[in-house]
Amino acid sequence: AKTYETILVETHGRVGLVRLNRPQALNALNAQIIAELDAALDGFERHPAIGCVVITGSEKAFAAGADIKEMQSKTYPGTYLDDFITAWDRISQKRKPIIAAVAGFALGGGCELAMMCDFILAADTAKFGQPEIKLGVMPGAGGTQRLTRFVGKAKAMEMCLTGRMMDAAEAERAGLVSRVVPAAELVDEALKVAAQIAGMSLPIAMMTKESVNRSYETTLAEGIRFERRVFHAMFATQDQKEGMSAFVDKRKPGFTNS
Ligand code: CAA
Repeated sequence: AKTYETILVETHGRVGLVRLNRPQALNALNAQIIAELDAALDGFERHPAIGCVVITGSEKAFAAGADIKEMQSKTYPGTYLDDFITAWDRISQKRKPIIAAVAGFALGGGCELAMMCDFILAADTAKFGQPEIKLGVMPGAGGTQRLTRFVGKAKAMEMCLTGRMMDAAEAERAGLVSRVVPAAELVDEALKVAAQIAGMSLPIAMMTKESVNRSYETTLAEGIRFERRVFHAMFATQDQKEGMSAFVDKRKPGFTNS
């Protein structure tokens, strides 16, 4: 197995788990942790037995943002030439479902990383924010765009302009997170939900992810057309036959990803 310095990688049955692990910096996201996370996720993408992935941090912090100490001395030509932050986009382009399990701080790039996942399960201790403006910049990993789509303009604008944090209850009310669970149960609950997803047909789950994501990229009519094409294609799979036969026969389906 590959060894990483800034993340811990585990598999739990058909679920891949990545723990961000730079405790000394509250999981601040430097180039190394992003590269290692990307590599670990690619490993799970290639691993035929993995059906869903969970990304989590520590009790104190999912991630407290991009690494400010690494960014401090960057220059404009440097960020432009290196296309700073664009490497992060690869995390939003994975095809298997990814759940962010967030406890503690998810600030700046940490909030943006969580929003790149397919949904966010939050501990009751979670705190979300885009405090970049206090550092003389603005969100640079999708925050001005994704937060606005999750919570609407009013809250997104207020959060990006003031840097204030949102607690877990507000994040749930605003639609940023799917559910809030007690902190002590967060990772177990995320693994349970992930195992449930991993028990479905993998190609069907991947097509479902692709179809839901399409709604962010297109008009309603085009999105419906995309959905209909993919929905029809699902009737070419064994797993559709298996899923529907199992229902009719009153038994559990055994999906074969075919
Ligand atoms: N980058 C680098 N180091 C960080 C960090 C970050 N984003 N966040 C925390 N750390 C480090 C601290 O510097 C500190 O290190 P030292 O012990 O060496 O001083 C260590 O982690 C512990 O942090 P604190 O002592 O500050 O812990 P706290 O409990 O007092 O406060 C906090 C916690 C409120 C989250 C505070 O750490 C904080 O405000 N962090 C910065 C949050 C932030 O501004 N994030 C946005 C980053 S910019 C960005 O993300 C750009 C983008 O869009 C991609």
